[in-house]
Amino acid sequence: MQSIDTFCASEMPSPNFREVRRLGVNLNHWYAVARINEVTAQPIGVEVWHQAIVLFRDQSGKVHALEDRCPHRQVKLSHGKVVGDALECAYHGWCFDGSGDCVAVPYLANNQKLPNCQLRSYPVREQHGFVWLFPGEVQQAKVIQPLGLPEWDELNYITTVSIIECKAHYSFLLENLMDMYHGHLHQDYQAWANPVLQNIEESDDRVDAFYQAQSYYKIDKIWSISQLFIPALRQLHPEPLNVSYVYPHWVSTLGKDFKICCLVCPQHETATKAYLIHFTSLNAFHRLHKLPVLFRRWLKNRLFGSAQRILDGLVQQDVQMMEEEQQAYLNNPERRSYELNRTIPSVQRLIRKQAALGMQPPVSMPPDL
Ligand code: FES
Ligand SMILES: [Fe+2]
Repeated sequence: MQSIDTFCASEMPSPNFREVRRLGVNLNHWYAVARINEVTAQPIGVEVWHQAIVLFRDQSGKVHALEDRCPHRQVKLSHGKVVGDALECAYHGWCFDGSGDCVAVPYLANNQKLPNCQLRSYPVREQHGFVWLFPGEVQQAKVIQPLGLPEWDELNYITTVSIIECKAHYSFLLENLMDMYHGHLHQDYQAWANPVLQNIEESDDRVDAFYQAQSYYKIDKIWSISQLFIPALRQLHPEPLNVSYVYPHWVSTLGKDFKICCLVCPQHETATKAYLIHFTSLNAFHRLHKLPVLFRRWLKNRLFGSAQRILDGLVQQDVQMMEEEQQAYLNNPERRSYELNRTIPSVQRLIRKQAALGMQPPVSMPPDL
C-alpha cells in the first residue's frame, strides 16, 4: 500500500508512459463477451484481443465458442447457422461440433475421409447474466474465477446495462473509470459531486482508490428511485466512493445504495468493448423483503433498465473523450500529457504487470482508427 501523502506531481509521467497505449492484455482471465440472451441458435461473432470468436447455442442449450474461421476457405463461421449440435459454414456447408472437430461435409465422397481439421475451442461459462470466455491457457480456466456479480440475481437490486463500444485502447477506459475527477464531464448525469482522493492500494491484480464524495441520491423511500430520472429530487450528502480496477474489470460503490461494474473486453489496440452495469439497492425497504418472491421478481424485471437514459448518456460522453484521447495519441505519440490524479500511474502499473504476465508483446500500430 502506498500513501497518498508521498505523491508528487513531478513523478509523472513514468518513463514508459506512452507505451501503455500499445500494450496487450493478460488473456488468463475471464472476459464477458455477450449477454446470455444474445447467444442463441443464431451464431454471433465477437472479438477478444485480436481473436475472432464465434458463439452459438446447441439444441440442448449449451453455449460453445470456436475460433471464427472455417478451416476450408477461412471465411467467418459466424455467418453460418446451427444445425442440431453443430455449426454449419455458410459457404459449402461443412459442419463443426462444439469441440471444433469437423463432423460433416455434405458432398463427401464414399472414398473420402472427413478432413482432420481442428478449430480452437474456448472455455465458456454462463454466469450472472453474461457469457464469460477464457481466452488464455485452458488449464488456468479451472482455477481462475470470473468476476462475481451476485447483485445480478439478487431480488433487491435493480439493474441497468449500457454497452461501451469505444475506438480506443483499453487503458483509456480504465483511466477514465478510476479518475473520479472526470465527473466534471457529466454534470447532471453523475450520481456524485466533489470527490477527494483519500488513498490508493495496489497489488499484483488490482488497484483500489478510495475517494470521499457527495452523493446526490438517498434511496430510503420507494419513490426515491425517481431521483434517477428527476434531478430536482436529489439531495447532496457525504458518502465514500470506492473504485477498483480488478484486472481486467472495474467495480465501484457509492455508499451502500449504488454499485457500478464495468466488464472490459479489449478487442485490439484501438478498440474496446465493455458492459457498464449499474445496480441500485432496494435493501433499505424492509417491507419489500416480506412481499412474495414472485412479486419481487416481477418488480426487479419491471424496473430493469430504469437508469438507461442516464447510463447511456454517461457512456456517450465518456466514449467521445476516450476516442479523442486515442486519436490525439495516434496523431502525436510523443506529446506529453500532464496528470495530477495518482490513480492513473497506479492503473498503468497494473496494466504493465498484467500485460507482462500475459506475455503479449506490443504489436505495430495500425495507421489510423
Ligand atoms: S469455406 Fe466453410 S465450408 Fe467452405
Ligand atoms: Fe464517466
